[in-house]
Amino acid sequence: MPVTTNSTPSSVRQYVFDIGKIVEGALRGDQARVLTYTDRLRSRLQDDGEKQAAQRLERLLSASPGHMAQVADIADVRRGLPVDSESRLPIADIDPAPTGTEILVLEPEVGELVERFVASVQKADELVANGLNVSPSMLIHGPPGVGKTLLARAVAQRLGLPLITARTDALISSYLGSTAKNVRMLFDHAAARPCVLFLDEFDAIGKMRDDSRELGELKRVVISLLQNIDALGPDHVLLAATNHEHLLDPAIWRRFTYKLRLGPPSTEARGELFRRFLRGHLEEQDIEVLTILAEGATGAEIKHACEDSLRAMVLGGRAELHLEDVAHTVMRSLGDDTEGASPEDIVPRLAERLGRKASQEKIGQIVGLSQSRVSRILNSKGDRHGRRTTASNQGRSQKRR
Ligand SMILES: Nc1ncnc2c1ncn2[C@@H]1O[C@H](COP(=O)(O)OP(=O)(O)O)[C@@H](O)[C@H]1O
Ligand SMILES: [Mg+2]
Repeated sequence: MPVTTNSTPSSVRQYVFDIGKIVEGALRGDQARVLTYTDRLRSRLQDDGEKQAAQRLERLLSASPGHMAQVADIADVRRGLPVDSESRLPIADIDPAPTGTEILVLEPEVGELVERFVASVQKADELVANGLNVSPSMLIHGPPGVGKTLLARAVAQRLGLPLITARTDALISSYLGSTAKNVRMLFDHAAARPCVLFLDEFDAIGKMRDDSRELGELKRVVISLLQNIDALGPDHVLLAATNHEHLLDPAIWRRFTYKLRLGPPSTEARGELFRRFLRGHLEEQDIEVLTILAEGATGAEIKHACEDSLRAMVLGGRAELHLEDVAHTVMRSLGDDTEGASPEDIVPRLAERLGRKASQEKIGQIVGLSQSRVSRILNSKGDRHGRRTTASNQGRSQKRR
């Protein structure tokens, strides 16, 4: 007697999955979805050696007007972008093939988590073939300027998928009832092709709570989001970024399989950011001073300080960059403005920031004084200024919160 098994071969499961998407597209009159998934099924059949079947689909596809445009033409993908019915503004932006050479510095443990996430997406087919449900999603949270938006782009780039970015505040319509409709349109649009759907500034949804509009609208939006997130298949990677994770509905928070917190960079990461953004313009020992000086700064603040300094160097017709140029810009970007301050004021502030690690010589270099002068200032005023610096640091951290 032959051994029977009720497990369907994995390739059949994958075919059925694609056919399901094609049927879904046809029933909804969504041509883009039909074409994308037919093309995917064709390439699967081709890979599996089912040449005849693959050719048949190929013929059907090439006979379809606009097929090439659908698959290849960026303008066509954009044309279908959903628009808010009130403002007439697109609620999302599409990058069909994210590329870029932007610098991204991640802490090692963050990098590992991102790699694990990417691997889980790349193996989604295997999981589906084994009857497992996958809907890859990651919520990136942390203060502004730590690289959340940049990371989402990098993930889409790593996966080789188009990136559909929705600014959540653009989704929120002032028309009652329209926000839930916008959410549905956005997810429908994303469902038409394998892609990364990125909900940036996601806290805008939570902020609706403080709005004067009725809470019923927020409830509808949350329900609509939950339903749409649940309906996403393994071809759709959902990313969201928020500065205020506590504003998110706990049910939405739970929907994300991966949660990633990004914070201000560690000492090592700050060093790497200065090294990369200053492009070899400063010596390693100066980088070290800047790294300590910039404790608490975000990636965005470090990037701006470096770019501002390089810009001033080029515009000033100078060929070299000096530690003091960048140091003052870093201090300013941290809300500790040193411009116009007297050496008696700046020296203790620098000493406080740099701690014991920095030599008085470095402090002297930054403020343009001899080492002995720095030493004298610190000996005569250190104590009184120490207290002042601490107070001003407290002010700063309150301001940034
Ligand atoms: N870890 C980082 N590595 C490289 N650049 C960074 C990093 N964090 C922030 N930046 C830079 O700061 C700017 C703001 O980053 P962004 O991703 O928009 O931050 P967020 O979305 O967290 O507010 C970008 O220009 C980005 O290049
Ligand atoms: Mg951002």
